[in-house]
Amino acid sequence: MAFVILLVATVSAQNTSATKMKSFIDALMVKMTLEEKIGQLNLLTGGEASTGSVVSTDVESKIKAGEVGGIFSMSTPARIRKAQEIAVNQSRLKIPIIFGMDVIHGYKTVFPIPLGMSCIWDMKAIEQSARIAATEATADGICWAFSPMVDVSRDPRWGRISEGSGEDAYLGSQIAKAMVKGYQGDDLAKANTMMACVKHYALYGAAEAGRDYNTTDMSRIKMYNEYLSPYKAAVDAGVGSIMTSFNEIDGIPATANKWLLTDVLRKQWRFNGLVVTDYTSINEMTDHGMGNLKTVSALALKAGVDMDMVGEGFLSTLKQSLKEGKATQQYIDRACRKVLEAKYKLGLFTDPFLYCNEQRAATEIFTEANRAVARDMAAKSFVLLKNANKVLPLKLSGTIALIGPLADNKENMIGTWAVSGDPAKAISLLQGIKNVAPGVNVVYAKGANVSEDSVLEINTSVFGKPLNRDQRNADTMINEALRAAQNADIIVAALGELAEMTGESSSRSDITVPLSQKDLLNALVKTGKPVVVVLFTGRPLAIPDENKQASAILNTWFGGTEAGNAIADVLFGKTNPSGKLTTSFPINVGQVPVYYNHKNTGRPLAGDKFGKFRSNYLDVSNQPLYPFGYGLSYSNFTYSDITLSNKSLSSSGKIMASVTVTNSSNVDGIETVQLYIRDMVGSVTRPVKELKGFKQVAIKAGDAQVVTFDISINDLKFYNSNLDFVAELGDFKVFIGTNSRDVKEAGFSYTK
Ligand code: NOJ
Repeated sequence: MAFVILLVATVSAQNTSATKMKSFIDALMVKMTLEEKIGQLNLLTGGEASTGSVVSTDVESKIKAGEVGGIFSMSTPARIRKAQEIAVNQSRLKIPIIFGMDVIHGYKTVFPIPLGMSCIWDMKAIEQSARIAATEATADGICWAFSPMVDVSRDPRWGRISEGSGEDAYLGSQIAKAMVKGYQGDDLAKANTMMACVKHYALYGAAEAGRDYNTTDMSRIKMYNEYLSPYKAAVDAGVGSIMTSFNEIDGIPATANKWLLTDVLRKQWRFNGLVVTDYTSINEMTDHGMGNLKTVSALALKAGVDMDMVGEGFLSTLKQSLKEGKATQQYIDRACRKVLEAKYKLGLFTDPFLYCNEQRAATEIFTEANRAVARDMAAKSFVLLKNANKVLPLKLSGTIALIGPLADNKENMIGTWAVSGDPAKAISLLQGIKNVAPGVNVVYAKGANVSEDSVLEINTSVFGKPLNRDQRNADTMINEALRAAQNADIIVAALGELAEMTGESSSRSDITVPLSQKDLLNALVKTGKPVVVVLFTGRPLAIPDENKQASAILNTWFGGTEAGNAIADVLFGKTNPSGKLTTSFPINVGQVPVYYNHKNTGRPLAGDKFGKFRSNYLDVSNQPLYPFGYGLSYSNFTYSDITLSNKSLSSSGKIMASVTVTNSSNVDGIETVQLYIRDMVGSVTRPVKELKGFKQVAIKAGDAQVVTFDISINDLKFYNSNLDFVAELGDFKVFIGTNSRDVKEAGFSYTK
């Protein structure tokens, strides 16, 4: 009863505030000229962190003229305050500006790159990272985060796989919700919450050949079942805005795709927030072959875009298009209303300086407490790929040779898309080891440059980021490393990619560790001492050789501000690793895309041996090197068989599927128990398994825990060939395990 009263009260409060907002905006729009309305649709850069060839100019006079709705990438709070002062003091209608930023994995306190963060599988922690980012960014004047990026990707060649949550739409959806909640909180108008922007709508992660900005093409049924749900989850969680993607869909660029932006987004999903383009993605439709700037701007508006990022196509052409009947007043008004609503919901009309708070900025940014959370999250994002003979954790005494181009390196620790983070404040691995294990004698040598490939080097440093290239030749550096290793008990080799080898416009056709580092590793392994590889990467790398050579591999992504401390925490056993992969690690690039939830085909391979006229390769297994969900621990978890509460499921009932997980080691640990389901017969072909649930449990050494999942028909539903979301009667398999490959299996039927 009390709940019903509360619900009614909340709904009626929402209605009242929606009515209030509507009357406020109606009254404002009556006063607005056509030019001022179009001005609201214009989103400019503050001049920093551009991701395209065009950079906004003459921003100040445009603000005065009412030609700016929003600004992003304005890096200092003082500049933000000044721009807002101009808007609310010197423009005719004094409409405040909305300030955005690529707050992607933290603000000044930088968390692991999103791909790393997804490996934590802990939604509360992920939500907290967004909460902290919002608290810090809003103190500096920013109220709009261009995050979460939820593009499902199965292609490690694509540099931006680092910005997403991996290959699985179910997990991606949970993360999308957590991030939106973290940024937006329960009230956008609070001074420490900000509007999230889910991106890049849609299918940007499926670019052909993993080449950034490339064409995507897929069936609708695949979109609905395998790619769209994370965007929808963000919409269902109340995300305030959505960003269109650069790619085309069904031959029409997303930015002008009415089916995508209106039919699906507005009508099917009932999204009522703001639609913004990506950086000059309206203008880029000319190169896509959709017409000149006037034509493509009108197309974008008509399709459902509200705000034009950087390209000024709306600003420069919509008035003319209106005259010519190619755009309508109704569309312009609709878009303008959406921009104004966003500002209203953020409380900017009540206080344009709500988000500029020097006092908060001085006390709430980059705090000890925030950094402690970042350290904990980073440690939990690392994935232990191999640990032969329990070489890890390391002893807190003795001599370690710390070798490698990423060992004493702050610059790369915060990873891609950390525009507000200060790399100089990041903790290197060398520093981290010294902090965590002061009793250990550490002998450091660089050993190699990240790469000796001059093309790669030039292309990864276009933003002028120093590569810290060592001018000595490769042999001299390797010899120095071998000398450092001579008296060591163990070698820790910090290898991998530079941050700039990942992220936007950083696709790689070769996803191996660069040759210079392979040569170094070969030499280190020849010493006969155990080698622990600490791998830095923004994507799954193909590391079959390293997997054979190294005694242990800890994949650390780019861990953020506290990377070095967090890595040392795990290396020395202060934190027991618990990260689990959210993308498969291929054996080689030729297997790509290789993902766990693939279809069976009509000629599946039985076992792992080559089969003539079966679906497989002559030269490599079908299995990835490390599957989705994989990750070791210093604990040892064993799984009992699955117990099902029932063998048949009715449409209103549920089945409880349980396993007992035992920690048979002497170390306390955290395990992510994963539930997968396979629909054995469908009206359309169904994947060999799909993640349908996961539970994270902390199990003390020697203890056991029963983990139970409830299965209902919601877990059996999929989009059929009419794109209806249905569960079909028949037999199902249920799998529970420590990763997508190593599972226990049981079966049940859905019998109505
Ligand atoms: C282009 C990127 O695709 C997008 O993710 C980002 O938010 C914008 N640039 C703004 O920087």
